Amino acid sequence: MTTSPVDATTTPAWGELLRHHQEFRGDLRGWFATDPGRAERFSHTTGDLLVDLSKNLATDETFELLVRLAREVNLPDRIEAMFTGEHINVTEDRAVLHTALRRAPGTEPPLVVDGQEIDVDVARELEKVAAFAEQVRSGEWSGVTGKPVRTVVNIGIGGSDLGPVMVYEALKPYGREDLEVRFVSNIDPTDLAQKTADLDPETTLFIVASKTFGTLETLTNARMARAWLWDRLHAVGAIEDDHDAQQAAVRAHFVAVSTALDKVEAFGIDPANAFGFWDWVGGRYSVDSAIGTSLAVAFGPDVFRELLSGFRAVDEHFRSTPLEQNVPALMGLLNVWYTNFLGAHTHAVLPYAQQLHRFPAYLQQLTMESNGKSVRWDGSPVTTQTGEVFWGEPGTNGQHAFYQLIHQGTRTIPADFIAFATPAYPLTDDAGDGKAVAAGADVHELFLANFFAQTKALAFGKTADEVRAEGTAEELVSARTFSGNRPTTSIMAPALTPSVLGQLVALYEHITFVEGVVWGIDSFDQWGVELGKKLALEVAPAVSGDDAALADQDASTRRLVEYYRAHR
Ligand code: F6P
Repeated sequence: MTTSPVDATTTPAWGELLRHHQEFRGDLRGWFATDPGRAERFSHTTGDLLVDLSKNLATDETFELLVRLAREVNLPDRIEAMFTGEHINVTEDRAVLHTALRRAPGTEPPLVVDGQEIDVDVARELEKVAAFAEQVRSGEWSGVTGKPVRTVVNIGIGGSDLGPVMVYEALKPYGREDLEVRFVSNIDPTDLAQKTADLDPETTLFIVASKTFGTLETLTNARMARAWLWDRLHAVGAIEDDHDAQQAAVRAHFVAVSTALDKVEAFGIDPANAFGFWDWVGGRYSVDSAIGTSLAVAFGPDVFRELLSGFRAVDEHFRSTPLEQNVPALMGLLNVWYTNFLGAHTHAVLPYAQQLHRFPAYLQQLTMESNGKSVRWDGSPVTTQTGEVFWGEPGTNGQHAFYQLIHQGTRTIPADFIAFATPAYPLTDDAGDGKAVAAGADVHELFLANFFAQTKALAFGKTADEVRAEGTAEELVSARTFSGNRPTTSIMAPALTPSVLGQLVALYEHITFVEGVVWGIDSFDQWGVELGKKLALEVAPAVSGDDAALADQDASTRRLVEYYRAHR
């Protein structure tokens, strides 16, 4: 395995792609009109996902050259290096083994990395999480006054929040009415205050989720939650105002998920109630580790295992499918095509599923913390643009907000559309509106019609002649013309099951990895968030009133802090 990344821009395939780009003319209307096999040829499956790439700005030659590029940057070797535990997180000298969290039990040969029996440790921790989840769900686990848990509050941020909250929202139909999970992440005191305002301390369980157990936001919120618990339990006469009673309350109402078990104990949480994972699981890749404890509690261990099985299906596809049909590889390569050749800066993710309303936010950390880098894994500068700004909202809400820019703006915005054949909540509009919507209309079908219509409109647009043919006044024709050739990928699955959700997440994890390999970057470190954390601690004394610390600030920061101090 080479230690230096191949510079993609020096490969023969990159040169060919540059040439191809010179003569490239996107023509989705023409391609579909003349090539009846396009949709079938450019549609692929992974697990339960149907992925239609045919409405992208790409021809057979584009795909051939992109696949050639993937081979020339050694993508197949890098995939194998990841799955087998090589230290591909170079800047932190770590293996990258989130895929080990979802290996099938009993897989042969067992995975042993750096002397660690990975499968054994993963299975043990999963069992521990499952047993705990069952205890909470059955009521065997109780608070200090003997009452069962009714609300779980997960305190975490970044990967220790975004994954769990996204999955919780997505799988709510699998939950129980008498067991709610809330998520506190922001150090803005509003978050904890609002999420705990109506809670009964006797039936509340906090899960402090932090890989490092050193993150300012999470530890501050955990301390505040602990104080809230003591205060409220004391107020209802449930505990005395003494140290032993408080410690007992923490042991009954707090558990932790972390790789730093010594710090967990120092906080007062019983180490027996701490669920571990390992430094080879990056925060943004950790929802399938013990970081998902809140999910195992909410939905039960079986649903959590089904989620893992979905991840596994796409892992196996990614590892074993030839690049020509390898969905994460093709989608990652298309993103490279858009970013480096067609000048796209952003990428929209548009789930036609209200349950996925936190999916774009989740993907923002996954993709942008992974690939927002300017140096390659050997420390040399990158040789081309990296990273895309991922963003999105569920359809149809987005249609009435930002789709205008995707349809008629000047920028190329590749967009992934995601939809499910079967809704979680089938509803009919019994009345209809007597015009466009017939009485008894299946509302999910109306929803899907929007999904299909949007990708059609984006791909094929509406020509000036078509606009004129509708009798439009000439001066309005250009405003009403749609250029088309706006690229989209459509992803469909039978239903948003736990397994399908796992498949979707694994798909985007691997897409992110593929892009990182082409750009030669370490997609698994995140040094870029460190400076802001350090400066926040340095500026804090100035904010609280320390004039010497204030004098050390730059002129702009000083004025802003002074404004705060004058208005507090
Ligand atoms: O934002 C930086 C980061 O380290 C993320 O990568 C991580 O998901 C988040 O902070 C939370 O970290 P921890 O789980 O250690 O509290």
